[in-house]
Amino acid sequence: MSIEIVEATESHIPDIVELWKEFMDHHKDIDPRFPAREDAHVSFEQHIRELMGTEDTLVLVALDESRVVGFSISQVNSYPPIWVESDKHGFIDTMAITADYRRKGIGEHMLGRIFESFASHGIDRIELTVAARNEVGYSFWRKHGFKDFSHRLYLQRG
Ligand SMILES: CC(C)(COP(=O)(O)OP(=O)(O)OC[C@H]1O[C@@H](n2cnc3c(N)ncnc32)[C@H](O)[C@@H]1OP(=O)(O)O)[C@@H](O)C(=O)NCCC(=O)NCCS
Repeated sequence: MSIEIVEATESHIPDIVELWKEFMDHHKDIDPRFPAREDAHVSFEQHIRELMGTEDTLVLVALDESRVVGFSISQVNSYPPIWVESDKHGFIDTMAITADYRRKGIGEHMLGRIFESFASHGIDRIELTVAARNEVGYSFWRKHGFKDFSHRLYLQRG
């Protein structure tokens, strides 16, 4: 299997939207608080189209021949100007590999490309959020050296 990681283009958008639906279903399966609206993919499509046109966002796809089997969204973000350290950091917004292509090193390959892109912006701190019950996600990020630094709590009243 030869997988190529390339920057997404307009023609990949319909496949990215399909993968995003699978990504959302994965989260719905691990935590029932994640159901998305029926038409959520329409908003996502508009969102990704806008992101692809911005300088600070990198959208990558993993291709098996012409089939899109994974995608990621990563961004150069800024902290408010209150910290001693650099105000810029990398943020990995989403990474998803379709179920039957997981655990074959594609995520690692894609992450390598994201690291290279951040390095080219002089960025050495990278953040992301992961759902507390997403064991696959946690396992992957920890394997690549990511550590806890913040916990987001919730209270459902009623
Ligand atoms: C997390 C994800 C992007 C990793 O991509 P991948 O191509 O499977 O990753 P790689 O093959 O490079 O790395 C494999 C590692 O990922 C984790 N992983 C992937 N699939 C897994 C599974 N089914 N069960 C447990 N861990 C799994 C493990 O840490 C694994 O390492 P190991 O095989 O040494 O245990 C992919 O599994 C995925 O899309 N998961 C669902 C969406 C998701 O959770 N995304 C992250 C959101 S925060």
